[in-house]
Parts: sequence; structure tokens; C-alpha cells
Amino acid sequence: MTPPASAPASAPAYDVAGVRSQFPVLATTVRGKRLAFLDTAASAQRPLAVIEAVDRYERTSHANVHRGVYQLSQKATDAFEGAREKLRRFIGAASSREVIFTRGTTESINLVAQSWGRRLGPGDEILITWMEHHANIVPWQMLCERTGATLKVAPIDRRGELDLEAFRALLTPRTRIASFIQISNALGTVLPVREMIAAAKAVGALTLVDGAQAISHQRIDVQSLGCDFYVFSGHKLYGPTGIGVLWGREALLREMPPWQGGGDMIRTVSFSGSTWNDLPWKFEAGTPHISGAIGLGAAVDWLETIGIDAVQAHEQSLLTQATAALREIPGLRLIGEAADKGPVISFVMDGVHPHDLGTILDAEGVAVRAGHHCAMPVMAFFDVPATARASFGCYSDEADIAQLVAALRHAHEVFN
Ligand code: ALA
Repeated sequence: MTPPASAPASAPAYDVAGVRSQFPVLATTVRGKRLAFLDTAASAQRPLAVIEAVDRYERTSHANVHRGVYQLSQKATDAFEGAREKLRRFIGAASSREVIFTRGTTESINLVAQSWGRRLGPGDEILITWMEHHANIVPWQMLCERTGATLKVAPIDRRGELDLEAFRALLTPRTRIASFIQISNALGTVLPVREMIAAAKAVGALTLVDGAQAISHQRIDVQSLGCDFYVFSGHKLYGPTGIGVLWGREALLREMPPWQGGGDMIRTVSFSGSTWNDLPWKFEAGTPHISGAIGLGAAVDWLETIGIDAVQAHEQSLLTQATAALREIPGLRLIGEAADKGPVISFVMDGVHPHDLGTILDAEGVAVRAGHHCAMPVMAFFDVPATARASFGCYSDEADIAQLVAALRHAHEVFN
């Protein structure tokens, strides 16, 4: 990923020790060893600012939102809607009406597929890529089954890069939506999303960008990106689990029907029919994850104090360092060598199943994810059952990489 050109030459050095000190879990040990947490792509750790914001809310402000006339409910509502406004600012949305709280990326994509997708029929096409997470494959497969629409898949190459020409060629006047990941969770590839959005627009298709792996690693401005939907999860952004965002263009969201019925999403209910609430609540049936939203609001406030451009530059430097070090390890093969990558390194080691590798690394205090990473088509493409994956966040440091490298050398000795 190209580091931001705008970082001033005189910017103070990134204080990774200071950042780490704000994450209590990083001071813990695993099996008596220093914890090298290298699974941020699965879920980022939480800084004290988030833990304390949630704790404060639970201790002093909890009540149901949008319902009470009493002061405590008003306080909870203000904090919840205040968090929405923080998220709006963070992604550069035009209005907080466009910021829908969901349970996460998966639910956001399902919402679009089930609500917007209702208009599709036989002959309509949906275009995705070969490196999608299952969350950006299965909801579209289900939609195609229901509507008779066709799912098309743009190929990737052996480096793990998208074949952009093939993507363009697969777009037709029948393509209704192109939905793609911004950074691959399994390979680390950064996709050329601006070009993809422009190409989709040229045939009149909408675009959905799965930003789950991008949102905490680079500045996102949904208006300048030019997509129609942008989705992400709070827990990849140093916030709580069970909360995420669907951003959509207001005009589109207005014409989309609600996808779940219940409290909060209605204006009136009678046995002859019901009418819907305004945006964004039309898509938020039931009592929401109030503390989750507040925690996520605190997470983006906190990240802004560190500076996402500084985080990006730090992570890119670790990625370069770790990639070079892993290439030197005998028997280790990188899976995904795109020219432009986010802070994710997938690899396999000759003669060692990734799960065994993960277990050996764990004994050395190194936490990596081993598995198919919810991207089975990617595993099939590279003809591996699984990979081990190290991924970095704002708190990752050179000691984490040194610990990973030492543990991998040890694993190689044990198995050879
Ligand atoms: N999608 C998450 C990952 O890649 C869980 O690990």
C-alpha cells in the first residue's frame, strides 16, 4: 500500500511503545512468553480508551435508546447517536442518515443483498472477485438462487493480484452490482478499487466495497472513493465485536425496503399495514448494540489521536521488514505476493500443516491465524488446504517480527 504522500518530512517518529502501552492485553504473557499478537486481521485488540468508554457507559448511562422521555435514556441516545456522527466524520460520509449500524461486515453485505437485491431477476448479473471473503460470496449466491440472477467471478493470478482486464471484460450492461474486497484478508492484496469502481460505473453498475481489512490501515473517504456502499466491522478497527457499519448513498438507501421488521424501524403499525421510520433507523430493527456503537465511536476518536497516516506508514515498514525476513526462512513459501499489500502475510511451510505450525508458534507466544481464512476459493486457487497468516496493527513492533521469525526457524528445525 503506498504510504500517504502528505506525511510531513518533519513528522515525529511513530511512538510504538507509547501505543502499545495503551493496550492492556499486550502486557500479558502466553505460556510464560511475551505475547506477539499477529492476528489483527481477525480481530484487533482494544485500547484503554475504548475499554473505558464502554465501561463508563455501562456504569453511568445505560438505558434503551430512542424510547425514554427520562434523562438517562436521553443520555444513552445522545451517546449512541453521537457515535454515529463520529463514524460519519471518520469515513467522510455526507450525512449520518447514511451510516447504518449493523453487527459487522457480514451483516452489512447481507442487508444490501436482501434489501437492495430484491429488485434483481433472471438475466441480471453480480460481479465479485476470486479473492472474496465468504461474507462477500455467500449472500450473493443466496440472492442468485432466490432471484435467478447470475454470479460472475473475476480471476486472480499467481501473485494474488486481480486480473483487472478480466474484471473489466466481465462487466456488461446486465451487471447490476460489483462487490469486492478492498484488501484481501487471505493474501493481503490491495485491490485497485478506484479503477474497479470507475469501470463498474461505466456500465451503469453499483459498487459495494468490503472495507473490513482496509478501514484501520488507511484513510477512507467514501465520497472520494465514489462507491455506492462501503462496509466494515468495528472489531477490526480497535472497537468492540458485534458492531459494524453499512454506509450507503442516501438516495439508494431511501428507495431500499427494510430488511428486518420490529421496533425502532417503524413509523406506524396497524393490522392494515405499517410505515417505515426515516434513515438510518429504517434499517435498525430492535434494540441496537448501544455500548458497541459507543465503543466504536471511542475507537475512531482514539485512532485519530494516533493518526491513521502514521499508523499506515508504520505498518508498511513492518510489512516490508517481515516479508524480507520470512523469505529467508528455509521451506517457507509466501502465498500472495502482490506489489501492493496491506499488513497481512500468508505463508505455508514445507512438510508442516498450517494448523501444526500455528500450534508451534503459539508455544512460543506468537498468535497467528491458521486456516482457510473464510476464503476457500483462494485456498483452492493456490492448491493449499490452509495457510498460516501473520497480520499487523498499530501496536505491532519489530520484537513481534523477531519472535515470529525465531519461532518459524524453530518449527522448521522440529519438522526437518
Ligand atoms: N475475516 C476475519 C479474518 O480474516 C475473521 O481472520
